[in-house]
Order: sequence, then C-alpha cells, then structure tokens
Amino acid sequence: MKVLITGAAGFIGSHVARLFTNKYPEYQIVVLDALTYAGNLENLRDIADKSNFTFIKGDITDEKLIPEIFEKYAFDGVIHLAAESHVDRSISDPMAFIRTNVFGTCNLLNAAKNAWKGNFEGKRFYHISTDEVYVALEFDGRFFTENTRYAPHSPYSASKASSDHFVRAYHDTYALPVVISNCSNNYGAYHFPEKLIPLAINNIKHNKPIPVYGKGENVRDWLWVEDHARAIDCIFHSGKNGDTYNIGGNNEWKNIDLIRKLCEIMDSKLGRESGTSAKLITFVSDRAGHDLRYAIDSSKLQAELGWKPSLQFEEGLEKTVDWYLANRQWLDNVTSGAYQSYYEQQYLNS
Ligand code: NAD
Ligand code: DAU
Repeated sequence: MKVLITGAAGFIGSHVARLFTNKYPEYQIVVLDALTYAGNLENLRDIADKSNFTFIKGDITDEKLIPEIFEKYAFDGVIHLAAESHVDRSISDPMAFIRTNVFGTCNLLNAAKNAWKGNFEGKRFYHISTDEVYVALEFDGRFFTENTRYAPHSPYSASKASSDHFVRAYHDTYALPVVISNCSNNYGAYHFPEKLIPLAINNIKHNKPIPVYGKGENVRDWLWVEDHARAIDCIFHSGKNGDTYNIGGNNEWKNIDLIRKLCEIMDSKLGRESGTSAKLITFVSDRAGHDLRYAIDSSKLQAELGWKPSLQFEEGLEKTVDWYLANRQWLDNVTSGAYQSYYEQQYLNS
C-alpha cells in the first residue's frame, strides 16, 4: 500500500507517520509537509532513514506539485493532517487558514479524484478534523456526537468546517471514498509550544508568567496524542466509507485546573517548593469568540472499531512533562527558531 501523509512534520502528523512507518514496513509511506513554522523535521528524525519512508517538502495548495506526486507514487490512501492549526493565529491571519485548510484540502481532493479516475477499489481519502467545528457546549452534561450541528466560531474552526463539507461533497458528488474523524485536544511529545500545555511547561521551566485566558473556566477534553494516532490507524483501515468518527479522551478539564495540576507536577520534577510555579499563573484578556466547553462522545468509534484511550490523564501529563524536560534541545531549538535550519542540514547540504 502506498500512503500519503500530509502535515507529518507537525505534532500529530509526526506520531501518525511514526506509527505507520514502524508498524507497516511493507507500506510505502510518503510524507508531504511545507515546513511552515509548525513543521519540524526533528519530529521525524527517528524514522527518516527507514527504507519505507520518503519525505517531500511541498505545499498542499500547489496545483502543479500535488497532481504530480499523485501521478508519480500512485497512492492508495491519503491521511490528510496538514493544516494551519492554532486558533489565536487564525484570529490575526485568517487568510492563511483559508488558503491551506480550505483551498489546500480541495486541491488534494481534486488530485485524488483525477488520479483515481473513478476506480476507487482499495482507495481511501482520510481527512483529519477537529471537534471545534461543532456548536460549543454549555455546562449541561451534553457531548458532541457525529450528528451535532456545525457552528464554528473562529476562522480556524470555520476553515476546518468548510474543508469537512468539501470532503463530504466529493464523496456525495463523485463517490470519492472518504472518511473523516473529529478529535478533541491532543497533548504529548512534539507539541509546538504555542499551545496551552507545552507553552505552560516552557514558561514554568523559565519562570515566566503562564497566560490564562479570561477566568480559565473554559473546558477542553484532552487526549494522549499516541491514542489519537492509534485511532487514525483503526479508522484508516476499518472505518466505513463516507462515515465520520468522533475521537476523544472523555477527559474534561477546566483550563485553570489543568494549569494548577501542571504546576504541581513541574514543582515536583524541578525540585521546587510546592506552590512555587502556581505563582506564575497570570489571568489575561480572553480569546475572541472563545468556545466555553468541548466534550466528545466517542462511543461510535469504541463500539464499531474497538478503539479506546489507553492512558489516564495524570499519567499522560507526567509523561509529557518528562519528555519536555528530557528533550531540552528540541524545546530550545523550537523556541529559538533554530529547528528551521534542520531541513537544509539534512536534505540540501547532503
Ligand atoms: P501542527 O500545526 O502541529 O502541524 C501542522 C503541519 O502541517 C505542520 O508540519 C505544517 O508544516 C504543515 N502544513 C501547514 N500548512 C501546510 C501546507 N500549506 N502544505 C503542507 N503542509 C502544511 O498541527 P497538529 O496539531 O499536528 O494538527 C494536525 C491536524 O489535526 C490538523 O488538521 C488539525 O486541524 C487536526 N487536529 C488537531 C488537534 C490538536 O489538538 N492539535 C485536535 C484535533 C484535530
Ligand atoms: O479541540 C481541538 C483543537 O484543540 C484543535 O483543533 C486545534 O488545532 C488545537 O490547537 C486545539 O485548540 P485549542 O484552542 O483548544 O487549543 P489551545 O492549546 O490553543 O488552547 C487550549 C485552551 O487554553 C483554550 O481554552 C484557550 C486556552 N489558552 C490557550 C493558550 C495558548 C490559555 O488560557 N492560554 C494560552 O496561552
């Protein structure tokens, strides 16, 4: 099987590429990534030399390159993760999100449709989406199901919602064999430190303020990133054509409680007196259009495909902190920007 994974130099994509490259040595895994600020080849260092792994630096919006690589590699499957993914950036630069998340996704859909020419036997286009497309929840005990109404609030979630609609439209109009999953907040290794958990770990480490938006009362449902990668593996191989699957950790945390927990863990790992890091918590202006609560009902995925999360949150959070403390160089390279020269060192100068 020849599989294209887009966005594989990012956080979740790198875990998916690692899982597929190691678990399926008989597959040819081709990864495509534009290496934006969020793409880091160091995330793929341990699999870069495997014989079933090929990296292509390229942009999903490129209307010449994308059909060319479909022609060259004759992919059987696409796992599409490439995206602009940070809500705060979408508020300051929405057009980048429309270009990559909407136009880029359509460019890939079109290339798959044209390359597969109506012969869809053994083919699959898997679009990775988010729970942020659904109408935000109140504190009312309800969960997102696959039938929850779409009502995105940020340019990021609107662009992801739009891309989901195009994926379904290609299925309904051209019979393209698609599957979609909508996942909750991921955490774990290789998470870019603009997102809440790695940003807080980095700031605590350097005794810098931890910015908490509003009153810190917003709730997110956190999932260990390797559990997301396992779910993607299940859905890619066994999900029903045209279907959607929700993926989540059944693990809701108010931001402020999560940050306090992280402060306790960091105090203990850094040998600081208990309560030291919590003094860094700083309440700042709220995010515009900030959704109150996300919570996923993943019972369809659990019942139909037998997936379930493997890790308790406290254990996962400790493992995450351990990873960031052990991988100081990775974090320093990302925060200094040095990681962006890794492509030149590895690919252009060799
Ligand atoms: P990320 O920002 O860490 O990585 C995105 C990757 O896509 C980067 O490597 C970047 O270089 C690449 N990319 C961006 N624009 C590109 C373009 N035009 N062409 C080619 N590559 C491009 O994102 P992530 O957190 O790993 O998210 C991956 C996917 O999962 C996204 O589609 C996101 O919407 C979705 N998702 C993320 C989460 C989460 O908690 N992080 C949860 C649910 C769904
Ligand atoms: O729900 C899935 C989504 O989770 C993904 O689709 C997105 O790609 C991913 O970035 C994530 O979006 P969030 O906006 O939920 O993640 P973020 O880490 O940016 O913020 C988590 C919560 O913490 C949110 O309520 C905003 C808040 N926050 C965030 C930052 C960066 C803060 O209070 N302070 C911060 O500095």
